[in-house]
Amino acid sequence: MAKLAIRGGNPIRTQPFPAYQTIGAEEKRAVMEVMDRGVLSQFQGEDTPNFYGGPKVREFEKAWSDYLGVRHAVAVNSATSGLNAAIGALGIAPGDEVICTPYTMTASATCALVYHAIPVFADVDPDTFNLDPEAVRRAITPRTRAIVVVHLFGQPADMDAIMAIAREHNLKVVEDAAQAPGAMYRGRPVGTIGDIGIFSLNYHKHINTGEGGICVTNDDTLALRLALIRNHGEVVVGSKGVQDIANTVGWNYRMTEIEAAIGVEQMRKLEGLVSRRVTLAKRLTDLLAEVPGITPPFVTPGVRHVYYLYALKLNAAQLGVSRQRFVQAVQAEGVPMVGGYVKPLYLEPLYQRKIAWGNAGCPFSCEHARGSKVSYAKGICPVTERLYESDLVFTNAIHAGMSERDVEDVARAVIKVVENRDELV
Ligand SMILES: Cc1ncc(COP(=O)(O)O)c(C=O)c1O
Repeated sequence: MAKLAIRGGNPIRTQPFPAYQTIGAEEKRAVMEVMDRGVLSQFQGEDTPNFYGGPKVREFEKAWSDYLGVRHAVAVNSATSGLNAAIGALGIAPGDEVICTPYTMTASATCALVYHAIPVFADVDPDTFNLDPEAVRRAITPRTRAIVVVHLFGQPADMDAIMAIAREHNLKVVEDAAQAPGAMYRGRPVGTIGDIGIFSLNYHKHINTGEGGICVTNDDTLALRLALIRNHGEVVVGSKGVQDIANTVGWNYRMTEIEAAIGVEQMRKLEGLVSRRVTLAKRLTDLLAEVPGITPPFVTPGVRHVYYLYALKLNAAQLGVSRQRFVQAVQAEGVPMVGGYVKPLYLEPLYQRKIAWGNAGCPFSCEHARGSKVSYAKGICPVTERLYESDLVFTNAIHAGMSERDVEDVARAVIKVVENRDELV
């Protein structure tokens, strides 16, 4: 039996894994072209074509709308900005309730708070880690106006069921596809199924512009509202083409020409980067398929999971080892592994203390929210809590820079720890 590295044995892996790097000569050349032109951002806050950005921003948006087969793409400076803009564009008002998963990056829920709406957390499915449609249904109240659906780790959420619930209750749907460019749900790209979809372009994502985001929609009015919110749009309301949209307060969510130029080149690489991840993830899943106590990612039939992270379930009780000890042992073998993902959002002090703006508990106890019975008590989403506390581990070692050999090392480390777990007790 091989001695575990954590017990002083030789680690499976001594070489670092290849760095995550998608930027190449093409991006560098594209940036230099913008630099030579000297106009690093071409947005203007008046009713001219430049209100909608410069040539690279437009080219980047067209690349997205062509790729997804969607009418409009609106580039912004982060997915956080995009989520905020989406909630604003949909006209969500103070005191409205917005249903969201608690197992996500914080911005999926704070976008509601920005408009003084109330996030209501519904539990996730134990296999996909995405919103459980039945939990969504139970969370609906007369105040509910929208659902923010996250395609966590790159796996599409159950959109048919969620859209059916939304139609039944006249709710808007925002797809937070920050982690899921290229993911498909029953033949349709994620992000294009709800009212507005948002993708992230921060450094960690499948493609990146350093920071950045893209909103997509098939609705002409929503696209206009998104563009207004992106660029202080209140100053152009009333001018030609932009009538009757007074209830729109704009911010500066503008993307620069440099980021857009990088993005145009990254878009050309997107499919290659995504399909490589999918291939490597499938290989890892094959290698881990028969390992006791480990459940590789479940992939819903009919979807394309794009593996932003490779998350698997650990049955610590079956293995007789705590998750923390298991993770430490895999790390000691030279393989990146983390337990838990993010804390369920409602356990953060913001929600526990129910205070977001000022000192008076707004928006939760503001006049607009009177009658809202939202609870953030521990225990409201038991599946999420169990995943966070004990069942979920993930590695970020699945990306396009990895070789088959690298992936095999990940599997070997996990298998070695499982087979020699007696050494951990
Ligand atoms: C699910 C999800 N939503 C939103 C965001 C926010 O993206 P950004 O960093 O581009 O603002 C992220 C970023 O990690 C994310 O993972």
